[in-house]
Amino acid sequence: MQISEAIQSRRSCRVFMDQPVPQETLERLMSLTCRAPSAINLQPWQFTVVRGAEVARLGKKLTRAYSERGISCGPDNTQPLPEVYMERQKELGRLMAPLMEKAGVDRNFINTGSLVFYGAPAVVVATLDGAFPPERAIDAGFALGWLLMAAADLGLATCPIGLVCSYADIIKDFLNIDSTRRVVLTVAVGFADPDSPLNRMRSPRASMEQVVRWY
Ligand SMILES: Cc1cc2nc3c(=O)[nH]c(=O)nc-3n(C[C@H](O)[C@H](O)[C@H](O)COP(=O)(O)O)c2cc1C
Repeated sequence: MQISEAIQSRRSCRVFMDQPVPQETLERLMSLTCRAPSAINLQPWQFTVVRGAEVARLGKKLTRAYSERGISCGPDNTQPLPEVYMERQKELGRLMAPLMEKAGVDRNFINTGSLVFYGAPAVVVATLDGAFPPERAIDAGFALGWLLMAAADLGLATCPIGLVCSYADIIKDFLNIDSTRRVVLTVAVGFADPDSPLNRMRSPRASMEQVVRWY
């Protein structure tokens, strides 16, 4: 697959098949992920790959924490967002609503589904060494971009899931990750259910004119 094709065709999958990803495929995925560039080649990341029944066990713990704390998907902004971002968020909701209705899931599905990694057979948890400032999460971001592209090339579906980072204490406790590490993002990995209306979602993008400046 050409990289440009992977960029064009990748989309977030929100209904996975109950089909495990072979270990060799996961190892190939992670070795390509680790080829990402990083500042001074520090490679400040670590990835914990959760598989099979452990994904479901983690999902149960996260769902319980959600029912107690109620932290939902959101942009984590510290000040009110300019209208343009509010509108993009609303547009995504407008486009997803009919697909959610077709799939027979309720409006809270993005929260409840994220907490159980949408039934994916594998989840990659990316963490940053606690010695680094949050800015170095950009390096992990590169690696995660590489992961999404490599997964597309390997025929795997993915969904980046940030909601669960609000429950990092639960993740770190369950996966025995050092408490000083920062959970940057998780990515659900598996095979997309081709019949689910939710997987037909094609999110729009702002036009190039809106986001690119030329000098
Ligand atoms: C940092 C990050 C966090 C995300 N967190 C979630 C999440 O918690 N739940 C979810 O369903 N999707 C999540 N997504 C997926 C985005 O909603 C998705 O990438 C966006 O709507 C664009 O759609 P596309 O990936 O299909 O192109 C996240 C994506 C990124 C990059």
